[in-house]
Amino acid sequence: MRLDLTNRTAVVTGGSSGIGASIVSALEACGAKVHIFDLANGIDVSNRETLEKAFDGIPGDIDVVVANAGIGTTSGLVETSKELWDRTIAINLTGAYNTVQLAAARMKPQRKGSIVLTASTNSYDGEPMLSAYNASKAGVLGILHTAACELGPYQVRINAVCPGLIRTPLTKGSFDSPEILKDYFRHMPLGRGGEPEEVANAVAFLASDLASYITGAALLVDGGQLSSKFGTWNDDIGEFRKDRWVLR
Ligand SMILES: NC(=O)c1ccc[n+]([C@@H]2O[C@H](COP(=O)([O-])OP(=O)(O)OC[C@H]3O[C@@H](n4cnc5c(N)ncnc54)[C@H](O)[C@@H]3O)[C@@H](O)[C@H]2O)c1
Repeated sequence: MRLDLTNRTAVVTGGSSGIGASIVSALEACGAKVHIFDLANGIDVSNRETLEKAFDGIPGDIDVVVANAGIGTTSGLVETSKELWDRTIAINLTGAYNTVQLAAARMKPQRKGSIVLTASTNSYDGEPMLSAYNASKAGVLGILHTAACELGPYQVRINAVCPGLIRTPLTKGSFDSPEILKDYFRHMPLGRGGEPEEVANAVAFLASDLASYITGAALLVDGGQLSSKFGTWNDDIGEFRKDRWVLR
């Protein structure tokens, strides 16, 4: 059994940094030819016209599309400005919608294809100061479930990964602060944050034929965070060393 994407063509949005860059590396390591759609190369997923042109620029079948581009925004519920709300929804939700819609339009006539969305534990979880972000990521799961129903008959699969706290430029502030990590990672049964490669491995699996009977699934890649309602770690059982909890 091998995770083989030889001769497959893939698109990864937000593929120039963090989780997206690791997804690009993982898909390429499995043999895929990967196109990166990122602000860094002039492609804004919230701009429908630009995105459509980018898809049109790829000849032949598109086998895998990963809608991963996103931004993190932080603000209290009352303080959230209309501009912040609009920008968060435009990129994280409308951008994902644009990507899925254009991917689906290509894949339906092909009668094959696999789409993977980067959602979040914040698609489910309440967390203060993140109302716009959390709403955008909850919405991504709405796209997931509906698209799975519509695309299944065409043998096009769509799934999501829901990462917890992953070490990327987006989360540098948290990872640079041992006090934040110690507290946050009390709630991670595995006692640590995730690496972008660990999310990319899950995306590569969902993109591949090894996941041939999986569609409409949202796969948590969170070190167990959402299973840990009351927290897992405390100073009696463990000690915090640099960036993780370890058993005493
Ligand atoms: N890092 C985490 O802890 C974490 C957790 C859960 C979900 N996520 C999600 O993972 C995805 C990637 O996040 P990351 O941590 O790798 O962030 P990152 O900032 O390292 O990378 C995001 C990439 O998306 C690109 N991008 C931003 N806006 C864009 C736009 N309008 N059009 C095209 N590209 C755009 C950026 O240029 C960048 O290359 C996001 O959707 C984020 O919400 C991240």
